[in-house]
Amino acid sequence: MVRHRQNIDKANKEVYKKKTEVEKNHWRLAYHMAPQANWMNDPNGFIYFNGEYHLFYQHNPYSPEWGPMYWGHAKSKDLAHWEHLPIALAPSEDYDVDGCFSGSAIERDGKLYLMYTGNKWTGDNHDTDLKQVQCLAVSEDGISFNKLTENPIMTDAPAGDIHPNHWRDPKVWKNGEFNFCVLGSKTNDEKGQVLLYRSVNLIDWEFLNVVAKGEGNFGYMWECPDIFHLNGNDVLIMSPQGVKPEGDLYHNLHQACYVVGTLDYEIGVLNHGEFELLDYGFDFYAPQTTIDDKGRRIMIAWMAMWESEMPEQKYGWAGAMTLPRLLTMNNGKLLTEPVPELKALRKKEVSFQNVLIKGEVKLEGVSGHCLEMEVTIDAKEASSFGLKLGVNQQQNEETLFSYNVADEILTFDRRRSGEGPGGIRKAPVSLQDNLLHLHLFIDNSSVEVFVQGGEKVLTGRVYPSVEANEIYFFADKEIKLVTLKKWGLKGVFSELSNDLVRDKII
Ligand code: FRU
Repeated sequence: MVRHRQNIDKANKEVYKKKTEVEKNHWRLAYHMAPQANWMNDPNGFIYFNGEYHLFYQHNPYSPEWGPMYWGHAKSKDLAHWEHLPIALAPSEDYDVDGCFSGSAIERDGKLYLMYTGNKWTGDNHDTDLKQVQCLAVSEDGISFNKLTENPIMTDAPAGDIHPNHWRDPKVWKNGEFNFCVLGSKTNDEKGQVLLYRSVNLIDWEFLNVVAKGEGNFGYMWECPDIFHLNGNDVLIMSPQGVKPEGDLYHNLHQACYVVGTLDYEIGVLNHGEFELLDYGFDFYAPQTTIDDKGRRIMIAWMAMWESEMPEQKYGWAGAMTLPRLLTMNNGKLLTEPVPELKALRKKEVSFQNVLIKGEVKLEGVSGHCLEMEVTIDAKEASSFGLKLGVNQQQNEETLFSYNVADEILTFDRRRSGEGPGGIRKAPVSLQDNLLHLHLFIDNSSVEVFVQGGEKVLTGRVYPSVEANEIYFFADKEIKLVTLKKWGLKGVFSELSNDLVRDKII
């Protein structure tokens, strides 16, 4: 316990020392959660607890590269404004000496429990030489956590066609008298699968079954599973590693998918339908959901991708979270929309109606690096149209969203977006009454586009130069912007959080 506290205090100091320098970087995000300094990956322990949303995340407080994992921590009253909190978990015991890997949170008897994977390297090869176990930490106040003396609470993967070394990322929830937990896993011959357990007391767990498994091109390992009930269906979310590209799909190194079905809690099997992508852009991985006091299912994901170039690393930080997204079910498919609370960040509305566009057009007051925009476009007779963000014509810089009417494809092209990784991603999108509805969030080095009321989403990091802030609409034949609304957005990080960290460490 003492070592855990010391490791946390030392890591907090490191982050605090660097954060003022990091804040100066023009790619810092104004209204997305990102580490104050150094590295962030998966969201962890996302939960509504004592009237506030808590979000933890995989964090290396010592470097903008991945390394020994800590749990960073932030909280929010409204999913729009955030407060950074001191680090919650640090490697400190033999069973988690090389990292507190991903996991989740659950409330029990008024206390907040974090369930996570303890990771230990047993040799130099990080694919084969590792020992993973499942662990618990508990807090009374939601800020300071102690690891349980019973740890590790799960020591070995179950017998059967289950890889003994790769089982991780517990997501825990309550159903009836039992707590349930899913774990990411793979078979011995490298097919992704998810394990289901149950427990009464969170400490003693009974393995029920392999709840779902990938057949065919569905990856060699499924990370970060999550199961929840929505509108009479059970939904499984998972992050399959290594799905191979097929046509326009699966061009990221790893994917984030879902299936909809019915979970038999007695035998532990999910009967489900087709695999669907959760996001069609470049940077979306390891999503995790929670349910709040209003019964809403909210999802947040890491807005980055493994092994993708991250130009912000040279400014001392790396990685960010997507916006919190509200999940609803429509005809057996998930709709994904930004949470409505984000409207509180809007300032300076600019709006247009019935604007005809042909060729390339800029609109008065529609430009910037940090904004929200909603636009409904009537395609009329056009065969190709769209918009360009982050434009600087002198430097030939732009981020392109173009819609092809005949192919029914929306393309996100970041080959000329500035620094960093390029590439093209495509999403199948049908016009509705010949209309395309786009809801965009641009935040200095990120773009999220919600299409046709959340039927599809495309998310990507882009790294434009400071000057590249113009927005153009374009069309090969006349289109009509039926309505367009654009808002500037306020920053969302409270200085209080800095005081809290300062109080704890100085
Ligand atoms: C997913 C993941 C998890 C693991 C964590 C380590 O991005 O690989 O499976 O727990 O990251 O940081």
